[in-house]
Amino acid sequence: MYYLDENIKDLVRIFDQNERKEYLRLDLNENPGGLPKKFIDETLKNITPQFISQYPETLHFSKILAEHIGGDISNICITNGSAEAIRYVIQAFTSVNGRIVGVVPSYFMFQVYSEMYGRNFIQVPYNEDLTMDINNIIKELTDETQLLILLNPNNPMGNVYSDEEFELLFKICQDKQITLLIDEAYHYFYPKTFINYALNNRRVLVTRTFSKLFSMAGCRLGYVCGNPEDIKYVQKFCTPHNTNAFAMLFAERILTTPGMLNSLIEKFYEGRKYLISTLDENGYRHKGEAGNFIFIEPKTNAQDIVDKMKNKKKILIKKYQSVGDFGDCLRVSIGEKQYMQTFIDALLDLDK
Ligand SMILES: Cc1ncc(COP(=O)(O)O)c(C=O)c1O
Repeated sequence: MYYLDENIKDLVRIFDQNERKEYLRLDLNENPGGLPKKFIDETLKNITPQFISQYPETLHFSKILAEHIGGDISNICITNGSAEAIRYVIQAFTSVNGRIVGVVPSYFMFQVYSEMYGRNFIQVPYNEDLTMDINNIIKELTDETQLLILLNPNNPMGNVYSDEEFELLFKICQDKQITLLIDEAYHYFYPKTFINYALNNRRVLVTRTFSKLFSMAGCRLGYVCGNPEDIKYVQKFCTPHNTNAFAMLFAERILTTPGMLNSLIEKFYEGRKYLISTLDENGYRHKGEAGNFIFIEPKTNAQDIVDKMKNKKKILIKKYQSVGDFGDCLRVSIGEKQYMQTFIDALLDLDK
């Protein structure tokens, strides 16, 4: 008998098939410059025929990663991008029709997975001034709630939580037995982390990715960190050998090459400083720079700018509709200064 999962019949997914070679792509929060070429060439010297023919081994990399986060290998489950980790957390810790609370707008896959697995995603909206009132989150944390999803910082809003706000949300979750998922995809761009909560408590999980600061989106590598008992449950969902050997090799070398991580952070900060000061000098309102992305209020029409950026300047950026009192605005990834210069030159030319 033919069967089709009811939940996916009307599920909308967007699969990006853009040919992007000639474009400067500032629409997916990647690092436009990528890792230094010399570092890539050195790393590739480790590739032998056996490296490719054998199934990837995770133990060695897990030890390095565990040391990096100040935990044990039993605290982490490595995944094929953090989007996979998020999916497993939703599968493991929520039920069909289960109540999931999350802020919107946010990373869209939380809602996609919720719909895919027949969960009930409750949206907590931002205020008109683009701040998040945690009382609006707290109101939704009913006894039936199974999962609260927070982002530190949020994509695309770029907001963060103070220690006091987070502690309050954490306590309510623990009291009401609500699993807490904290997405830290944009950690390093904003240094404060809640990972210690995941290392020291049950039912608190932090997901992180190697796609952003580590500049490895093409390799697909992420992880979820938490109490060993919870991590065991997440691990059960993994497909065998779900993370590839290239990804782990590159991540290992970034973590163990002295100065590598700092140099990526410094280049990013330089680009961000340049972008923000130039926007300020030119009278642009902007918001949300805790991650590697920023909202910019254009002086003319947002969609026109996005289209002209693509067609005339070969730069891809996104338009976000009705972003609080910013209205329709531009969302741009932040990267090294040279790419920010290219973007600013194009913006000043087009937005008049
Ligand atoms: C907030 C957030 N979480 C998770 C991801 C997924 O990243 P990846 O699957 O590349 O690790 C993204 C990607 O943009 C994101 O913005």
